[in-house]
Amino acid sequence: MREKRQTYKRNQIGFLFSLIICVCNLTAQTVIPVATKNNLLLMQTDNSNRLRIIYFGKPLANESEYKAVAANYNYDESNAGIYNSAYTPAGTWNLSEPAIQVKHADGNTSLELKYISHKKEQIDANVAVTSILLKDPVYPFEVTLFYKVWEKENVIEQWTEIKHKEKKPVVLQKYASANLYFANKDFYLTSFQGEYLKEMQPVETKLSQGIRTVDSKLGTRAMLLQTPNFILSFGKSASENEGTVMLGQLAWSSNFKLDFEIDSHKNLRFIAGINPFASEYSLVPNETFKTPSLIYALSNNGTGEASRNLHDWARKYRVLDGQGERLTLLNNWEATYFDFDENKIKALFEDAKDLGVDMFLLDDGWFGNKYPRNNDDAGLGDWQENKKKLPNGLGYLVREAKKEGVKFGIWIEPEMVNPRSELYEKHLDWVIRQPERPEIYYRNQMVLDLSNPEVQDFVFGIVDDLFVKNPELAFIKWDCNAVIYNAYSAYLNKKGVPQSNLYVDYVKGLYKVLQRIRAKYPKVPMMLCSGGGGRADYEFLKYFTEFWPSDDTEPIERIFLQWDYSYFFPSITTDNHVTDWGKQPLKFRVDVASMGKLGFDIVAGELDTNDKIFCKEAINNYNSFKDIVWHGDMFRLVNPHENDISALMYVSKDKSKAIVFNYLVNNRFSITATKRPVVFNGLDANKRYTVKEINLYPGVSSTFSSDKVFTGDFLMKAGFNPNVTLKRTSVVLEVNEVK
Ligand code: GLA
Repeated sequence: MREKRQTYKRNQIGFLFSLIICVCNLTAQTVIPVATKNNLLLMQTDNSNRLRIIYFGKPLANESEYKAVAANYNYDESNAGIYNSAYTPAGTWNLSEPAIQVKHADGNTSLELKYISHKKEQIDANVAVTSILLKDPVYPFEVTLFYKVWEKENVIEQWTEIKHKEKKPVVLQKYASANLYFANKDFYLTSFQGEYLKEMQPVETKLSQGIRTVDSKLGTRAMLLQTPNFILSFGKSASENEGTVMLGQLAWSSNFKLDFEIDSHKNLRFIAGINPFASEYSLVPNETFKTPSLIYALSNNGTGEASRNLHDWARKYRVLDGQGERLTLLNNWEATYFDFDENKIKALFEDAKDLGVDMFLLDDGWFGNKYPRNNDDAGLGDWQENKKKLPNGLGYLVREAKKEGVKFGIWIEPEMVNPRSELYEKHLDWVIRQPERPEIYYRNQMVLDLSNPEVQDFVFGIVDDLFVKNPELAFIKWDCNAVIYNAYSAYLNKKGVPQSNLYVDYVKGLYKVLQRIRAKYPKVPMMLCSGGGGRADYEFLKYFTEFWPSDDTEPIERIFLQWDYSYFFPSITTDNHVTDWGKQPLKFRVDVASMGKLGFDIVAGELDTNDKIFCKEAINNYNSFKDIVWHGDMFRLVNPHENDISALMYVSKDKSKAIVFNYLVNNRFSITATKRPVVFNGLDANKRYTVKEINLYPGVSSTFSSDKVFTGDFLMKAGFNPNVTLKRTSVVLEVNEVK
């Protein structure tokens, strides 16, 4: 009886639900709003039931006026079809860049998508997901568009799910994550480009008619040359504290494609997704293909506010342990490279302890026996301790580190193989390579085929084995130093799956491994590294607590790099190490590395007394303000790309404490910028503060006293001169509220 009642109830709910959907269907010109606190995206169906984007901008106060928007635009659509489709199909009416292009099971290449229904699911007071179902009227083929919003942070995550019930697989030739449309006069795009040791270089261009594509075809290490991060600025070039901007990223850890197209109406069509290059994806019936997410923060007050919102969102909702702590460390990579043994490493534990960092990180070179890893041309794949270097194994080192009171972390590069390895000898079929062609190496290595479940087990096993044998292992640095050449999977071939699934199935396989690792080891911190900054995105950061922005640790270069990464990533996620690179004094290097997660990669035992005292004091200081750098609000004050100095500050959420980093970034004789004050930001205008210089060398005093009291109002209007000069190239200020 009870069961019957429940079934009846369910049917009732079902009926009610279909009624809602029905109502949506019957209402001509359905309007679908996707709103955050300061932004509104409006979509509307047209007379043919196609879904279009009709508005993207400041929220409209009256819902009743939503429908009046479309009448404002007189678009002639006789040329290339509809420009403002919410998800542009190919093969029918559209003759411009599509969001989706398919080959049906019967070989037909036409697709039309019509609105069927939509719903909004309120997850909590701040978070909601709107989903919109579109269907092809001729083929059993459907697409669902998802828009997840974080209202307070003005952040939107967009993705698409594709499914069909055709008799055989459908080939997805293009399958974008998002398709947006913006009507404005001028559009400025900042993309981030680079190469090894010069990652994340911003380039701003005013978009003109045609398509500007930002993409990657590298497979692994995908964002080395171009990144999936971008800034769009509307009406004028992007600026820090004013103007409407969008800070976005395609969260996909492999080949991506961002198409920014100014159409013949001079509006901007934006299509972002997995790069369709060599990636026609064969989708079997009833399986759902979920695209990666396009994530973006919107602001009407410039890039500063958009970054702070994105940082808040990332820490609270996305990055693994984003609101937690991080471990300061001493790394041996640049101190020893491959040349070390047990005793040398043990001595470094003492240095770590003496400096006062939390952890020692053992880098590359600890493994391989038949092919010892004494150089970068052998051993990758053979994850057993090298008996000569580490006769007592890793367990012994973990215990010895513990005796010194420091934690122990380790480097791995589990997706890779050197041809000089036992793994290569045993499992040639696990290696991505063209069987009939000469092998091509990148840093003497090749990539393992993670589309193969056996390889997934192997990679999971490397991490699992380390933790099972060494439960107190505190940290993993996960590296990836090669791109995918000669893309070919023996596994997919054996299974009869088209080779063009490889790029996508590789990443899906990698995510599966990371999910397994996190199911078993939910919180152990892991650093994502890719021969410098070849990898960092918000899909990876679900599994990683932090990333390595670049092998370039030259501190002036680093000021620029960290500045440019800061548009998208909170400082808690960026690992910065003090090394011997560059001509800047140790203080300069330590100050720069303190703007994120601080680490050292120097021979600490060889520091002279003053340097040692300074470092210890700077680490103490760091421990006192790291909470603000990690969890506070970041304000970019003086842009190093445009000035002789650079300044950046972090403010605690309650505005009672701040830390300001100031640097000379130009060594020319007469530096005008240093004659002027730096104008602070983010303080409480009504609070009173002192400003004190910290991170000073023993015996060196500041050029100003810390007794003076300033109002927040003064510091944020008149500013404060940190006295950066050719002799004082790096100045760190601690700002404290006077109660
Ligand atoms: C890459 C990393 C470095 C270091 C080396 C080890 O280049 O970016 O930090 O770990 O590999 O081989």
